[in-house]
Amino acid sequence: MSAGTELTGRFALVTGAGRGIGAAVVARLAGDGARVLATDVDPEGAETLAGQYPAQVTVRELDVTDAGAVESLVEEAERTLGPLDIAVNVAGVLRCSDVTDLSDEDWAHTFAVNTGGVFHVSRAAARRMAARGRGSIVTVASNAAGVPRAGMSAYAASKAAAVMFTKCLGLEVAARGVRCNTVSPGSTLTGMQRAMWAASGAEDEAAAARRVIEGDLAAHRTGIPLGRIAEPEDVADAVLFLVSDRARHITMHDLYVDGGATLRA
Ligand SMILES: NC(=O)c1ccc[n+]([C@@H]2O[C@H](COP(=O)([O-])OP(=O)(O)OC[C@H]3O[C@@H](n4cnc5c(N)ncnc54)[C@H](O)[C@@H]3O)[C@@H](O)[C@H]2O)c1
Repeated sequence: MSAGTELTGRFALVTGAGRGIGAAVVARLAGDGARVLATDVDPEGAETLAGQYPAQVTVRELDVTDAGAVESLVEEAERTLGPLDIAVNVAGVLRCSDVTDLSDEDWAHTFAVNTGGVFHVSRAAARRMAARGRGSIVTVASNAAGVPRAGMSAYAASKAAAVMFTKCLGLEVAARGVRCNTVSPGSTLTGMQRAMWAASGAEDEAAAARRVIEGDLAAHRTGIPLGRIAEPEDVADAVLFLVSDRARHITMHDLYVDGGATLRA
């Protein structure tokens, strides 16, 4: 766990903070001194972080698909907790299916969370940040946004849209001191990854991880050159860097954290 003070005095909003990468982002931000509003549609898991950092972490339920709820929570947070310096979009869903079997509901829900949610939260944050002339927004996308993956069309397309949306926003607000970047993880050991392995009938986690690391020619998947599955903290560290002043000259960047899996070709 980091124990810096670089973000002391900053206030951050994190979505999807109940578990996995979002929870790791909250821990890293709080560990570096920030106050954090940790939000999730299912926020129970974030209570542990509030227990660990009682003076810094506030937990609230938030469904990012609900534009009105996003706007009123951000308005209330700024009124009661202070101006937002940082917003991190982590909330996401993965529904795997070949296109020929993909339902309208799976498509719509995937875009509602992974793209619509990013729009709602980034818009609410950017309006206020741009008016103050400072701020940083990071969207956690996916390396699937950059490489075709069988069975992941809705997810990959929704993430590609979120990446381009975040870059366009970055361009619009750059002159007003707001930086917008994306972090694109590869396979990361979280509930989402485990659920995908379970749904694919993997016999056990170690075997499933080995297959991802070694690659699967039949599925046109290269492996992971660095030879490991990411931990949520690997992704959170990239987020932490991008929101910090060390990244003050970086905007509209897409930082891949995938062990080289997409060969960055
Ligand atoms: N785990 C991976 O291998 C991986 C790889 C690439 C990208 N990602 C992305 O990283 C992010 C975090 O993934 P994770 O692996 O920690 O997933 P996870 O499923 O463990 O956690 C996702 C969190 O988002 C929350 N969430 C879902 N719908 C929501 C909504 N409508 N409003 C608010 N919160 C909602 C869930 O309750 C959950 O707490 C996601 O955007 C995911 O697409 C994950």
